[in-house]
Amino acid sequence: MRLLPFLLLAAATGTSAASVSGAAEGFAKGVTGGGSATAVYPSTTAELVSYLGDSSARVIVLTKTFDFTSSEGTTTGTGCAPWGTASACQVAINKDDWCTNYQPDAPSVSVSYDNAGVLGITVTSNKSLLGDGSSGVIKGKGLRIVSGASNIIIQNIAITDINPRYVWGGDAITLNDADLVWIDHVTTARIGRQHLVLGTSADNRVTVSNSYFNGVSSYSATCDGYHYWGIYLTGSNDMVTLKGNYIYHMSGRSPKVAGNTLLHAVNNYWYDSSGHAFEIDAGGYVLAEGNVFQNIPTVVTSPISGQLFTSPDASTNSICSTYLGHTCQVNGFGSSGTFSQADTAFLANFEGKNIASADTYSVAQSSVPGNAGQGNL
Ligand SMILES: *[C@@H]1O[C@H](CO)[C@@H](O)[C@H](O)[C@H]1NC(C)=O
Repeated sequence: MRLLPFLLLAAATGTSAASVSGAAEGFAKGVTGGGSATAVYPSTTAELVSYLGDSSARVIVLTKTFDFTSSEGTTTGTGCAPWGTASACQVAINKDDWCTNYQPDAPSVSVSYDNAGVLGITVTSNKSLLGDGSSGVIKGKGLRIVSGASNIIIQNIAITDINPRYVWGGDAITLNDADLVWIDHVTTARIGRQHLVLGTSADNRVTVSNSYFNGVSSYSATCDGYHYWGIYLTGSNDMVTLKGNYIYHMSGRSPKVAGNTLLHAVNNYWYDSSGHAFEIDAGGYVLAEGNVFQNIPTVVTSPISGQLFTSPDASTNSICSTYLGHTCQVNGFGSSGTFSQADTAFLANFEGKNIASADTYSVAQSSVPGNAGQGNL
């Protein structure tokens, strides 16, 4: 019997996920997260919350599902149904009087949502949050990197089941006024609002790589099983590298880019949308290269109010060498709409930054689906 604690400890510290795998490419290059801090293995949701939000540098390893559902009770009230009352439609919580102020003509409906989902877990500076194998899951609550936080790595976890029926029911990952954040091999699924949201304050250097944004849902704002609120990049001075991600089964805003956001979207795989992928509003600066668009009817909504360089052909793309240090790669399209624009004035914004490398779209086509997401490190 006296040996038991020792054996448990040995088993825990022998897990392979106790350190970060690989290194960030692109804007968040150099991020170290919790660095060489001794790994901790939370066993309860309270421990996980404490480790993520305290003031110590931490390597936090998840070896199981942390289920926050019901942990903060339920709220029942009156919301609205702007997209209709069919069972496949999302309905909205009257958060900050959103229904009252913006949807006065929508039918009222009764809503009953889980309180834990509405606000993500606070994440502070100098943290690595790592999943062990395919076991690290946070259910029913997202992650909210707090204002002023920097140097954070989130790798190989899944975030799932955040009030999927309810708009304003919660986001999976929120950044607002952060710097040096790397999100890698993360899976998000069945989320009420955004899978990833970079809010209105400036997020400086961010890399989102090899992640799987899964839009399959029983409830959707388009009432068709495709999630509308995918990736929302509207910070006031943000630099985002989006590389090697699998963006699946969305119907819109995947991503929406605005505010003042410089986005390098490289070698991602968009697959099967019922609506649009990109929405580029004023202040969105997007360079897209080496991506795959398969069954994406509207690759970008019009009008494009920001700037866009879609890497149309080899001679146009040679201009990238000056600013990104490589010739841009053309994108690949299968059963998809068009995506063709070559604004070049904003390319100077890439100069002197850490830029992710680019493979051809056919490399992305063969590698991304099997590599992206939790459990595929
Ligand atoms: C994060 O770590 C760096 C380097 O050790 C340190 O200088 C900084 O104060 C830490 N930040 C916080 C908020 O603890």
